[in-house]
Amino acid sequence: DWSPASIIDEQVARIREQIGEDEVICGLSGGVDSAVAAALVQRAVGERLTCVFVDHGLLRQDERRQVEEDYVKATGVRLVTVDAREQFLSELAGVTDPETKRKIIGREFIRVFESTAASLVEESKHDSVPGEIKFLVQGTLYPDVVESGGGSGTANIKSHHNVGGLPEDMTFELVEPLRALFKDEVRAIGRELGVPEVIVARQPFPGPGLGIRIIGEVTQDRLDLLREADAIVREELTAAGLDAQIWQCPVVLLADVRSVGVQGDGRTYGHPIVLRPVSSEDAMTADWTRLPYDVVARISNRITNEVEGVNRVVLDVTSKPPGTIEWE
Ligand code: XMP
Repeated sequence: DWSPASIIDEQVARIREQIGEDEVICGLSGGVDSAVAAALVQRAVGERLTCVFVDHGLLRQDERRQVEEDYVKATGVRLVTVDAREQFLSELAGVTDPETKRKIIGREFIRVFESTAASLVEESKHDSVPGEIKFLVQGTLYPDVVESGGGSGTANIKSHHNVGGLPEDMTFELVEPLRALFKDEVRAIGRELGVPEVIVARQPFPGPGLGIRIIGEVTQDRLDLLREADAIVREELTAAGLDAQIWQCPVVLLADVRSVGVQGDGRTYGHPIVLRPVSSEDAMTADWTRLPYDVVARISNRITNEVEGVNRVVLDVTSKPPGTIEWE
C-alpha cells in the first residue's frame, strides 16, 4: 500500500529505532529533499534534531534567506547557519575536473557538519546532551544512489555529493529516509507533512550548486557572474509563467571558453552562458524544454546587456541521454 501517510509512518518508526535517544543533525540546503528528510526526522525525534545550513558560496541569489524564512518559520526547527564560503573556495582553487570538484564539495560538507556537531556538543555540555552527535540526516533519493553507481549493475555516471562524494574517514552514521524514493513521491510526502508549498514545489538544485555549473575553475568573480545570470533566467521564466512546465533550468558558465563579440563601443572577448531547460519525470531521463522563443530572446538580451563579461547566450538542445542534466 503506497500512500504518503503509510510511508511516513513506516519511516518515522525506522528513524526512531535507528536514532534511539540520541541527538541528530541534518544538512538543510533549501531544496525539497533535505527539507522533507528533516521534516520526517523532526516528526520522529522532535527537539533532538538540529538543522545545519551550509553557505558554501556556491548558492544562488537569495537561497540563504529562503531557508531561514520559509522553512524555519513553517517548522520551528532549530537552525544553525555556517558561513563556509572561504573554506570551499580555497579547497576548490585550481580544480577543473568535475569528479574532483564533486568529491571536494562532498568532503567539505562533511567537515562542516563534523565541526558543527562538535560545537553543538560543546555548547550544551551542561545539558543532558550525550557526548557526541553521531547521526547525520541526508535527503538522498534513489536516483542519486543510482547515478553514483550504487544501484545494482549501474555505472558511476557522476558522484552525487551526498553519496559517492562522501569522504572515506567519515564517522557519521547516515539517516536517509528518502533513499528508496523518487522526487514526485518525496513531494507528496512533504505535502502530507505540511512542508510549505514554496519549498515542496521548488525545482531541483544540486547540492554542489554553482560549483558544477562553472565549466573550469571556480572563482569568486565567476560565481558572482553566474549568480547574476541565473537570477535573470529564473526571474524571466517565472514572469513568463513557465515554472510548472520546467523540471529545472541549469544556467552554465563556460569559463574556459571565450568568443569575440561587439558590444557598446567595440570589441569584446567574453564568455558564453548556456541555458539548459529540461522537462522530466524523475531526472533519470529528460528532454530539452521547447521554451517560447520570445522568452529565450528576452533572457539572451538581458544577460548580454546586464552581466558584464558575457557576450553570448546559447541554448542546450540535448536530451538525457545522451547529455546529463548538469554539465559536470
Ligand atoms: P544529472 O546531471 O545527473 O542530474 O542528469 C540529475 C539530477 O540530479 C541533480 N544533481 C545533484 N543533486 N547532488 C544533488 O543533490 C549532486 O551532487 C547532484 N548532481 C546532480 C541535478 O540537478 C538533476 O536534478
